[in-house]
Amino acid sequence: MKWPLFVACILGLGISARAEAQDADRTTLEKGRYLATASDCAACHSIHGKPEYSGGVSFSLPMGKIYSTNITPDPEHGIGRYTETQFGQALRQGIRRDGSTLYPAMPFPSYARMTDSDIHALFVYFRNGVQAVHVSAPKNEIPWPLSIRWPLTFWRWAFAPTPHHAIARTAGEFTDPQLARGAYLVEGPAHCGACHSPRAITMQEKALTAHDGSLYLAGGAMVDGWTPPSLRQENRAGLGRWSEDDIVSFLKTGRAGTGSVFGSMTSAVLHGTQKLTDDDLHAIAHYLKSLPAADRTQTPWMYDPTVTDQLHKADLSPRGARIYVDHCAACHRTDGRGYPDVFPPLAGNPVMMQDDPASLVHIVQKGASLPAMATAPSSITMPAFSPGLTDQQIADVVTFIRHAWGNNASAVSAEDVRTLSKNMPPPEMADGTLSLN
Ligand code: HEC
Ligand code: HEC
Ligand code: HEC
Repeated sequence: MKWPLFVACILGLGISARAEAQDADRTTLEKGRYLATASDCAACHSIHGKPEYSGGVSFSLPMGKIYSTNITPDPEHGIGRYTETQFGQALRQGIRRDGSTLYPAMPFPSYARMTDSDIHALFVYFRNGVQAVHVSAPKNEIPWPLSIRWPLTFWRWAFAPTPHHAIARTAGEFTDPQLARGAYLVEGPAHCGACHSPRAITMQEKALTAHDGSLYLAGGAMVDGWTPPSLRQENRAGLGRWSEDDIVSFLKTGRAGTGSVFGSMTSAVLHGTQKLTDDDLHAIAHYLKSLPAADRTQTPWMYDPTVTDQLHKADLSPRGARIYVDHCAACHRTDGRGYPDVFPPLAGNPVMMQDDPASLVHIVQKGASLPAMATAPSSITMPAFSPGLTDQQIADVVTFIRHAWGNNASAVSAEDVRTLSKNMPPPEMADGTLSLN
């Protein structure tokens, strides 16, 4: 080989090796960006109108208010001084760089399941793909001595899983790769159980994985005035009658023939699930469909036309029927079936049949907006009915929709409405728009 040609070849090899390394970095960074979306870091660390990931989202805990931190690469106020090991410890074990324990508002018991290679990709993204922002988050408002963090360490020892055990538990036992992927996303990065699983009095989730038993994703406690329903296969108040495609459509567009997204779930869809690949959404749906009902006593829901016939004959004797006809039927229709992909059905919709009526009272009082999504560009709104309707009228119309068309949930009293109203968050948080981007 002639010298110039040889040198050119070596140079060429060098350049292509460097280009390959850059491609690899780029691929890792993009993988990290995707995982940050799947993990919904923005829902808690970004505020609409403020720089991305600069923190400051507030969380009301029983002992006071805390704020999420700045997780941009700023060395002073952000996580610029975190090493990859420290970053992994914060995410999977809830241990801050100074060694103290984080409040479990940061969902480290779920993130414990994340693999080393996913943690690496997230680190690369937060180090190189996020703009550093030089602002500090507000100081937590927890009075001394409750502000002392060491008791949190005991909580962590008692309740938070160790990563290698957690990873093995979620990855093991699934031979079907689609189920394994779904389990990984739901139990790990997407931390669906943080809202949808019941918690014990000491605040830990009663079950962190499908293997922990049927309380996993069996429905969570009310947060910010919204009660997350069961994601298991109950026929009435769970996902028993939702097909895999219904679940995929709900997570991708916020809309499905079976119900639409509202309350604190809106942010999870807007920041998170609508941006996932179809393969990942199908994996999630496939996994959720594999979780047997926790409550096996629910009789199958069947459409019952009795009330529809009454309304068509202008018989308004059922409790709340008149209010429904005057205020709701224009959109949700007298037959309760709504208009597909625009106004959700109330007939057979699982949220109507949850034991806890909080979400229903809340949405009727405050209304809701279904925001535009990437693949569903129009935004539609349900009006607020408070103060237009009295507590008694709201109780009556909510009772009506919980009883009509084959729905069979308990009645709601004016007293229930008053009690629930006291637990509602301030208006700016009412529809989860606080942290929408
Ligand atoms: C459900 C809300 C929530 C989600 C989701 C969430 N965080 Fe957090 N995170 C918090 C809160 C609240 C804190 C502060 C806790 C405290 O002060 O003890 C925090 C703290 C942290 C810290 C510690 C920073 C420091 O030194 O104080 C890091 C690092 C972090 N989060 C990274 C992430 C990343 C990366 C993601 C996504 C993979 C994420 N968080 C998702 C709520 C959340
Ligand atoms: C911040 C709390 C929160 C998180 C995190 C969350 N959800 Fe939800 N979810 C809710 C609430 C509240 C509702 C009830 C409102 C509604 O139906 O949109 C809900 C409703 C749903 C529904 C509709 C159920 C029905 O019967 O109408 C599905 C499906 C769902 N969530 C799936 C998921 C999945 C999958 C994840 C994880 C990727 C997840 N959720 C994470 C709070 C949450
Ligand atoms: C102008 C049309 C309109 C009227 C009138 C209306 N709604 Fe709605 N409703 C909507 C829209 C749009 C949604 C979806 C909101 C979202 O997903 O954020 C919705 C959602 C709901 C939901 C949650 C179901 C789900 O799966 O999203 C309930 C419950 C509900 N409405 C009850 C009522 C009741 C009761 C009344 C009368 C007091 C009423 N609505 C009046 C448009 C309307």
